[in-house]
Amino acid sequence: MTLRAATGDASAPERAPAVVPVHVGVIMDGNGRWAAARKLPRIEGHRRGVEALRRCVRAAREVGIRFLTIYSFSSENWSRPVGEVTELMRLLKLFLRHDLAELHRANVRVKVIGERANLSPEIRDLLAEAEEMTRGNTGLTLVVAFNYGSRQEIAGAVSRIAADVAAGRLKPQDVDVEMISQRLDTAGIPDPDLIVRTSGEQRLSNFLLWQAAYSEFVFLPIYWPDFDKAALLSAIDEYARRDRRFGGVTNCPGP
Ligand code: FPP
Repeated sequence: MTLRAATGDASAPERAPAVVPVHVGVIMDGNGRWAAARKLPRIEGHRRGVEALRRCVRAAREVGIRFLTIYSFSSENWSRPVGEVTELMRLLKLFLRHDLAELHRANVRVKVIGERANLSPEIRDLLAEAEEMTRGNTGLTLVVAFNYGSRQEIAGAVSRIAADVAAGRLKPQDVDVEMISQRLDTAGIPDPDLIVRTSGEQRLSNFLLWQAAYSEFVFLPIYWPDFDKAALLSAIDEYARRDRRFGGVTNCPGP
């Protein structure tokens, strides 16, 4: 698969998209296959994936996206070989240490979603520092989904609601969609307008299941390490062609 096939003429002049999604979620998939195609170790694909992530963040800022959520490590990724898990942890640390100052200078606000309890204290501190340092920034919000699983997130929200009901702080009939949304890790973040997945796979893999109720999905036939601004623009072009109805109708003649 080539990037050109997915995005058209990469040498075409830069242009601003007509419609810019407020929140884009990205499933960065295909690092392993990118590496295998080059007879390289899988971790080389992840390393190149970090460079693609940098291009993605820069492009999102340039295009004017307000929220970018990146799926960097799922609750299920612990089942990978220990060496690969260790490398993904190392790359997260590297990314935070190396890029935080620049993200801060670029007015990017970092927010982390996912379970932190079983991460190393070093990683927990780095994640907290990134959030703390950039808390007041007003540009792009970069939501880092790390050790994140949407089912686990929803189970946690339901558990907290059940505790409130059991303690008499809440009546069962008061539980509604908004209340559940506000108890997810993504509370305060608008639902994703667009979810992009690279590598050609077409599934959500436990990413933002609740929040994606009305998201548009674009599946790009490129591996994540090849992702760049042209790929993002091609996904946004596809998004702009969609007719979002949110369960309603648009200019539909009667039945
Ligand atoms: C999926 O590719 C990718 C991941 C599980 C990790 C995503 C991580 C990065 C892009 C780099 C690290 C960034 C941070 C911030 C930690 P895959 O390995 O499942 O690819 P495959 O399906 O081809 O095997």
